[in-house]
Amino acid sequence: MSDTSPLTSKAPIATIASLAQHEGERITLRGWLYNMRESGKLLFPIFRDGTGTIQGIVPKAAVPPEVFDRVKSLTQESSVIVTARVRADKRAPSGYELDVEDVQILQLVPDSDPFPITPKEHGVDFLMEHRHLWIRTPRQSSILRIRATIMRAAQEYFDTNGFIRTDPPILTPAACEGTSTLFELDYFGDPAYLTQSGQLYIESTALALGKVYSFGPTFRAEKSKTRRHLTEFWMIEPEVAFYNLDDLMDLAEAFITHIVTRVLEHHRADLKVIGRDVTKLEAILAPNTTNNEVSSRPERSEVEGPAVASATETGAPSFASLAKGGILTEARPPRFPRLTYDEAHAMLDEAYKAGKIENPHVYGDDFGSPDETYISSQFDRPVMVHRYPAAIKAFYMQPDPLDASKALCVDVLAPEGYGEIIGGSQRVDSYDLLKSRIEEHNLPLEAFKWYLDLRKYGSVPHSGFGMGIERVVAWLCALDHVRETIPFARTLNRIYP
Ligand code: 4AD
Ligand code: MG
Repeated sequence: MSDTSPLTSKAPIATIASLAQHEGERITLRGWLYNMRESGKLLFPIFRDGTGTIQGIVPKAAVPPEVFDRVKSLTQESSVIVTARVRADKRAPSGYELDVEDVQILQLVPDSDPFPITPKEHGVDFLMEHRHLWIRTPRQSSILRIRATIMRAAQEYFDTNGFIRTDPPILTPAACEGTSTLFELDYFGDPAYLTQSGQLYIESTALALGKVYSFGPTFRAEKSKTRRHLTEFWMIEPEVAFYNLDDLMDLAEAFITHIVTRVLEHHRADLKVIGRDVTKLEAILAPNTTNNEVSSRPERSEVEGPAVASATETGAPSFASLAKGGILTEARPPRFPRLTYDEAHAMLDEAYKAGKIENPHVYGDDFGSPDETYISSQFDRPVMVHRYPAAIKAFYMQPDPLDASKALCVDVLAPEGYGEIIGGSQRVDSYDLLKSRIEEHNLPLEAFKWYLDLRKYGSVPHSGFGMGIERVVAWLCALDHVRETIPFARTLNRIYP
C-alpha cells in the first residue's frame, strides 16, 4: 500500500474535528489509540487526537500483513501516525470512519505496564490520583474544551463591550472575602496572602478606566469538603464606574446569555459526549416566560440622571444605556427572574409549609445549598437574588438606601440546582461608612488605606461581580462535582498531581 512512511506521506495532516473537510481524501492523523474492537479478520481501532475520537477499520485482506499486525499490536494510548482514507458513514457517531492504510507507531505502551485508565469503571479517588491521564478520556476532554470556550466567551464579552482588562496582583497584603479562608505565606518576613478576589484592585482600575475586568486564579482556604468549592479557582470579575445594582444585574444577564450562546454554538458534539440535556440550555436563550412576573425590579431603578444625582438616595443613576456596541449590550428588559432576598425567603417558607423542603429557612441567614436548589428549581433560567441582609454579606457592599439592613448585592443562582455562579454588589462609596465597616469587620485599617483613598478622591457609585469559571463549567456540563471542571483541581484533600 503506502510505500512512503506516514511522516513523509503526501497525505495532508488532518484532525478528527476537521474530517468533514476531507471526505474521500487520504489524510494523516496524529494521535493515540483509545480503544480497539476485533472481529475475526477485522480490526476496529478507535483513535483520538485531542479534537475527538474516530473509528478506523482494518480488514486483513485490504492491508499488507505487517500493517495488520502492527495495528493488532496496538495497546491503549500507544501513540501513532495513521494514514487513512476518510469515508462518510451514517452509522458512525461522528458521521465518518477511517479506512486505515498504514500505521506508524511512535511509542507502544507495553502490555506489562498498561495505561491505568481503561474504558471500564474506576473510582473517583483513583481517577483523581491519575488526573494527568484521566483528562485523555473523551468525556474529560469534552469538558476541558467547553471550559476553554466558556473562558474565551467570557473574555470576548468584556473585550467587545468596552471593558479594559486590568490584572490585579495575586500576592496581597489583605483579605477581600473574609479572613477565614486566607492562604497565608511569608513575604520576606511579612505576612501576605494569596488573593481571594481581584475586586478591591479593580475598583481602583475602574475609577481610572471606567469599565474594567480581571481574570485570573483566586484562592480560598476552604476547610470543608463540598462539591462546589475548590481552594484554587478562576474568577472573572467586571467592575464598572457609575453602575448601580440594576445595571450590574443587566450586565450579568447579558454576560451569561453570551456564554451559553457560544457553548451551544461550538459544543453540540461535546455536550452529547457528556450526555448533557441541551434543551435545558436552549431554554435559557428563549424569550421571556411568565416566570419573569416574579421580577421585582424596584421602580426607582428606572431613574436615569446625571452622575451627580444622589446615589445614596435613589441608587446610582443608570449608565448601562451608554454601553451600546459590541456583541450584546446589556439586557433590557430583564429576561432572568429577579427576586429580593425577602421574596426568596417567602418562597422557601411556603415550600417548607408544603413539605417541599426538609428544613425551614431562618430569616436573616444565608441560603443553604438545598435552599438555593429549591429556588433555582422554580425557574428554567438563572435567577438573581438581590438585597440580602447586610449582616451576612461583605464589608464593601453598599446598603440599600430604602432599607439600610439590606445590601445592594446580587447572587446569580444557576438552574438545575447548580447554585451560586455569580456574586456581586454595588460598592460602598462613602469614605466614612467604608472606614467604619472595615473597623466593624476587624480588618486592619493600615492595609486598606489605599482602598479608602478611592473614596477620598472622586468617589462615584460603582458596581461589580465575580463569576467562578468552574461553577459555570459544572452547570453547563451538568457535572455533580467541580473537581472535573478544571484540569487539576485543588481541594482540601488534594494537591497531587
Ligand atoms: O461570591 P464571591 O465570594 O464574591 C467575591 O469574591 C467578590 N469579591 C466578587 C466581586 O464582586 N468582584 O465569589 C464570586 C464567585 C462565586 O459566585 C462562585 O462562582 C465563585 O466565585 N467561587 C468559587 N468557586 C469555586 N470554589 C470556591 N471556593 C469559590 N468561592 C467562590
Ligand atoms: Mg458569594
